Formats: sequence, structure tokens, C-alpha cells
Amino acid sequence: MVTKADIGVIGGSGFYSLLDDATEIEVTTPYGPPSDVITVGRIGSRSVAFLPRHGRDHRFAPHLIPYRANLWALRSLGVRQVLAPSAVGSLRPELGPGTLVVPDQLVDRTLGRVQTYYDAGGVIHVSFADPYCPSGRAAVIGTARSAGWELAEDGTLVVIEGPRFSTRAESRWFTSNGWTIVGMTGSPEAVLARELAMCYTTLSLVTDHDAGVEVGEGVTHEEVLAFFATNINRMRSLVADVVTALPEERACPCPNSLNGLSLPFELPG
Ligand code: ADE
Repeated sequence: MVTKADIGVIGGSGFYSLLDDATEIEVTTPYGPPSDVITVGRIGSRSVAFLPRHGRDHRFAPHLIPYRANLWALRSLGVRQVLAPSAVGSLRPELGPGTLVVPDQLVDRTLGRVQTYYDAGGVIHVSFADPYCPSGRAAVIGTARSAGWELAEDGTLVVIEGPRFSTRAESRWFTSNGWTIVGMTGSPEAVLARELAMCYTTLSLVTDHDAGVEVGEGVTHEEVLAFFATNINRMRSLVADVVTALPEERACPCPNSLNGLSLPFELPG
């Protein structure tokens, strides 16, 4: 039975069937329970923990997801590399639904989400110039290229508070700033992973053109869910292939994110 994992996948509930020898583990954290029970199992030779970001029954809207508990719970199971598939809107006409974007930058436009573990017991500033793991990104890019995905190998993800979508003016402003895609969950997930010295890589599936790009009605909830549902099998096999492509030894800078800092608590796992 697998009860520990090296790799964490935070995604939609369509990812359960990824895992062989699956066991469910209830994890508690100092930040309350994570979004749901975590399923731990195997993909090939790698041990993997899967956590449905919004909960199994999709009960957590993006602004209500227990982000701190989620990352803490994964790390406490041994996870050091996190893959985070998610649905995003495109801010560019040339990046249509079905494109996979592997962002290298992040702009945080969320409001009032707690985005640190270090809010007591001393001052800790982590570096976040490059929010994503370079080895994880290389694994996703190489795997998606070989599998023939329509692919944007870099780009800037702007994360909005939600749960509403953007106005046309907001969306046009995002595009004019040079940003590439828009989502609702990439922050604070990425920074919390960094604060726990975990590798974090986003796989962003474009489900729609955002309001400022598209003429007509703008994006709807149904459109996003329907598109993601019809692409879940492709995403699932991509994630499985990326898991086996991730390096076992972490030669990236992520494990050293907290070097030289006096942490107010011991890290879990
Ligand atoms: N997720 C999927 N499509 C989106 C959009 N257009 N804006 C924000 N989050 C999204």
C-alpha cells in the first residue's frame, strides 16, 4: 500500500483514475482540512498524491479553496513536486481552446486571499521572480510537444479573484499588458508551494477566449466546464506522461528556496 508520495497533482476530479494501487488518506493540517481526502497511488514507478482542488463534489469556489491546507497536506505526505493542471481563458486570439500553455510568469490580481505561511513568528521573504519550477516546465513542454499538443511554451498567467469572469475592459487591459492567459486558482497556490520549498508547475488548458478577445457573449461557466470535460482524457494522459518524465533528483533551485531563512516552524513531511 502506498501511503507517501513524491509527486502531487492538484486538479479536477477527472484525474482520479490516474492512479494504480490507490489508497485514500485523510490528512489534517494546522490550517484545517484540505479540499478533500487525498488519494495516494502509483503511476509507473512514481508515487503520486492526488487532491481535487475544488473538492470531490466541487464545493469550493476558487476564492474559498483552502490553499494553505492543500499544499501543507501534500508536503506532509512527502510530496516535493507539484503538478497543477487547470482551466484558463485565453487573452490572445491566436491561442484558441485546446491550446496548452506552460506559463513562466504570474500576475496576482486576487484580493484578500491568505497567501503566506509566514504571518507570525518572524519575517520571511521568499524569492518569487520565477514562480514555476524550470525542471517541471521542461518536462511538461517536452511531453506535450511529443504528444502533438497545440502548445505555448511560455506566457504570463494573470490570476483574478473570481468567482465572476472578467469584464471586457479588464480583459482588454490584461491583453494590453502583454499577459497571455487568465485563471482563478494559480495564486496563492504557486507561492505557497514556494514557501514550502516544493517544485510547482502549472499546465494551463485554454477552455475559452476571455471576454475582451471574443466578440459576442463573453465566456460562460457552462462553456468552460463543457470544454474541460471533453478534454479530460487528453489532460489525464498528459499529466500521467509528465509524472513519469519528471526528474527523480531535484536539480532545480526549488529545494533551496528557504536556505538561510530562520523558519518559525518545522516544515512537514
Ligand atoms: N477559467 C477558465 N476560463 C477562464 C476565464 N476566461 N477567466 C478566468 N478563469 C477561467
